[in-house]
Amino acid sequence: MEQILSVKNLSYTYKAGRVNVKALDDLDLEICRGEIFGFIGPNGAGKTTTIKLILNILPLQNGKIKISGEDSSKPKTRLKVGYMPESAVYSRYLTPKELLYMYGRIFGIRKSLLKQRISELLALVDLEKEGSRLIGTFSKGMMQKVSFAQSLINEPSVLILDEPTSGLDPVLRKKMRETILNLRDAGKTIFFSSHELSEVELISDKIGILNKGRLLATGPTKSFMGKKEEGLSLENYFLNLIKEKQ
Ligand SMILES: Nc1ncnc2c1ncn2[C@@H]1O[C@H](COP(=O)(O)OP(=O)(O)O)[C@@H](O)[C@H]1O
Ligand SMILES: [Mg+2]
Repeated sequence: MEQILSVKNLSYTYKAGRVNVKALDDLDLEICRGEIFGFIGPNGAGKTTTIKLILNILPLQNGKIKISGEDSSKPKTRLKVGYMPESAVYSRYLTPKELLYMYGRIFGIRKSLLKQRISELLALVDLEKEGSRLIGTFSKGMMQKVSFAQSLINEPSVLILDEPTSGLDPVLRKKMRETILNLRDAGKTIFFSSHELSEVELISDKIGILNKGRLLATGPTKSFMGKKEEGLSLENYFLNLIKEKQ
């Protein structure tokens, strides 16, 4: 299968006042076209740091990141990448329509195309009726929907979602999972992070388990299912793995 996202020897250290925080330690990842990659790890494992490096929000200190064979640091490479941040901060005084319009224009999408695309996206996330309401009045779930719609404005071929289902109720979670599966079936590659294994095993084709900046295990989701037959839930397998490597 064709590799679409590759991360090699990625390390990252934050400077936090006088102390250094090593967030990533020699991370390698490979994601192929058309697959859903579930990036799982406890809080503080380094998931968001990895995502920010892929998107060039943080500058590379070490290692290489390629998207479709091109360096991810080139803006052109990221034109076809969509990104949903962990907690999006948008102006309270914009409406979803205005926000999506703004992002669309940033991507250079023609005004004549945008109106249609915005209606389609609002329909996709069930916000048709709220399209002209101020975002400042939205609930957490509605904000997540706006953020998800925003990540799709540029019709990305690679979609990077940082904890897309966190804080959502079960109905919205299910809807989000279905939408992600539909996007995969439409040929998109999806990289999403989560700290909930149950979430990841439901839809991922491939899993990567991160802890303290290191990849503990990676492979097709089915390869982890064997653990279940051994009477070990994926959850317990994961917890054991983390404990072993402490
Ligand atoms: N801006 C920052 N300054 C210093 N340390 C940070 C910063 N952002 C994250 N970290 C640290 O880097 C590590 C990884 O964080 P993060 O990538 O956010 O993990 P995750 O997304 O898996 O919860 C944590 O130890 C966190 O405290
Ligand atoms: Mg995070």
